[in-house]
Amino acid sequence: MKNASGESFAKIILIGEHAVVYGQPAIALPVKSIRLTATLTADSDQRIQSSFYAGSLHGAANTNFAGIADLISALLKHFHASKQGFLLTIDSALPPERGMGSSAACATAVVRAFYAAFDAPLSRAQLLEWTATSEHAIHGNPSGLDAATTSADRPQWFVKGQAPVPIQFPKNGTLVIADTGIAGQTKIAVASVADHLATDPAQTDASIEAIGMATVFAAKALAEDDLLALGEQMDQAQTQLKALGVSNEALDRLIQSAKQNGALGAKLTGSGQGGCMIALATDPTHAAHIRRALRDAGATATWQYDFGEERTN
Ligand code: MEV
Repeated sequence: MKNASGESFAKIILIGEHAVVYGQPAIALPVKSIRLTATLTADSDQRIQSSFYAGSLHGAANTNFAGIADLISALLKHFHASKQGFLLTIDSALPPERGMGSSAACATAVVRAFYAAFDAPLSRAQLLEWTATSEHAIHGNPSGLDAATTSADRPQWFVKGQAPVPIQFPKNGTLVIADTGIAGQTKIAVASVADHLATDPAQTDASIEAIGMATVFAAKALAEDDLLALGEQMDQAQTQLKALGVSNEALDRLIQSAKQNGALGAKLTGSGQGGCMIALATDPTHAAHIRRALRDAGATATWQYDFGEERTN
């Protein structure tokens, strides 16, 4: 094994979360300014150093790092190196449990680091297979969207079970991302939507389909550089996410503040019940104004993402 590293990015779901678990499309983007790096160096023990967990590989069982630890053991087995000593250092700028895909980003970077350390080529399909296994262990019933986005270098159109398709973003438009400061767990939020489906199938199905339609219209708006229409679809999606019970008071407060400050659309992003929200601004100056308002309304951190960054021409 040689010393090597792997990288991944924060993910933001523009639209389609939760409904994507039930086969509807979603649009998500990697945020390259918020990244995670996994670095492997040879060592006499099998050790992990990170803000998620620090200690031996063996000692990670029964911690919140157990899913990634199982992934590491499976990777070592795959490379016939179960006894290989290593120090795995994970540096992450992604806040955990905030809907930015930190577990998927961690799995992605770890798989990339191990393949690089063993000099093995890694296809996108292989990478997504590895991360699907660890995401299942961590989240129960993931769509695969988080792993597909944290490992991507462009915005993606995603349907569960299909290869993600890169999607072109408009030249203008800026997304503001704001953290409620409240942890939200994907596994619990996804299970709560499943409970809604069991107790009120007609209403829940209608919300899931409405989010799917909003995503289709959002893709059309992106293709036509129509920020007003995109904002409307984000608002539509938020109405349905609220009906599914995955928004909460802190998210609603930030969303309301963004709208009062001229956001074209605003919604939660990721699994909700805490975590982050996004707001669509016309340009970086408008975004800076919304960010200030969100901080005044209680956001613990804000970021911004200009659509123009992602254009290929
Ligand atoms: C979590 O980032 C997104 C969800 O749609 C779950 C999933 O797609 O696996 C809530």
